[in-house]
Amino acid sequence: MRMTMRGTAMTHPHIRAFLFDLDGVITDTAEYHYLAWKKLAAEEGIPFSRSEADAMRGLSRRDSLRVLLKNRPLAEETAQAWMLRKNDTYLQMLEQLTPDSLLPGVRRLLTEARDAGIHLAVASASRNAHLVLDRLGVLPLFDAVGDGHSVVNPKPAPDLFLWTAGRLNANPRQAVVFEDARAGVDAALAGGFWVVGIGTAVTSERAHIHVADLSDVTVTSIVRGLTVLSD
Ligand code: G6P
Ligand code: MG
Repeated sequence: MRMTMRGTAMTHPHIRAFLFDLDGVITDTAEYHYLAWKKLAAEEGIPFSRSEADAMRGLSRRDSLRVLLKNRPLAEETAQAWMLRKNDTYLQMLEQLTPDSLLPGVRRLLTEARDAGIHLAVASASRNAHLVLDRLGVLPLFDAVGDGHSVVNPKPAPDLFLWTAGRLNANPRQAVVFEDARAGVDAALAGGFWVVGIGTAVTSERAHIHVADLSDVTVTSIVRGLTVLSD
């Protein structure tokens, strides 16, 4: 579609790929990450709030621990032990995950996008991403999965999204990232991607489109919402 306004052509970009963050976008495991860190914090007597948990969204396990510690010094050996404890708690929580744990609209949007010929990937900082996708029963729907093992520099660096888009042979201007985390929105923008921000932890000023969740999102509504201005 092409519209003309005062000598400027407005077109919708040609979108070939959707890249989904996992925790908090496809399923509510952001809540499990929060609860697992909260348990560790309580056991160690460290105050820990919801807003700190929101700041952890999208961050690697190591960077999340930094947020929890708030400049408290911690020996490396203890840091490793704490991250292991948090992950053990998280893994126990994952046992509750089933295909019913997909967030509203996710399965429908994935199916619709696949039918429209859009390539699908997950780009998550989590080292547990494959396990989570497997428990949700959606692993076969994705053409590629980038996870916490794929790149060295975590979000907000753009590396994970660029690596994952490369697996799909899509360039960032042809790809839309779906993110619930500030670090993830920043990473996607730094990589030159279109960004759909989801939920309350990200603001609409940064993302190209902002939605509360994916329940009413369609391929058409996304593409229509993205416009390119050119002379
Ligand atoms: C995601 C979550 C973060 C989590 C990170 C690492 O990006 O949003 O909250 O810290 O993955 O997850 P992991 O499962 O490897 O500890
Ligand atoms: Mg997330």
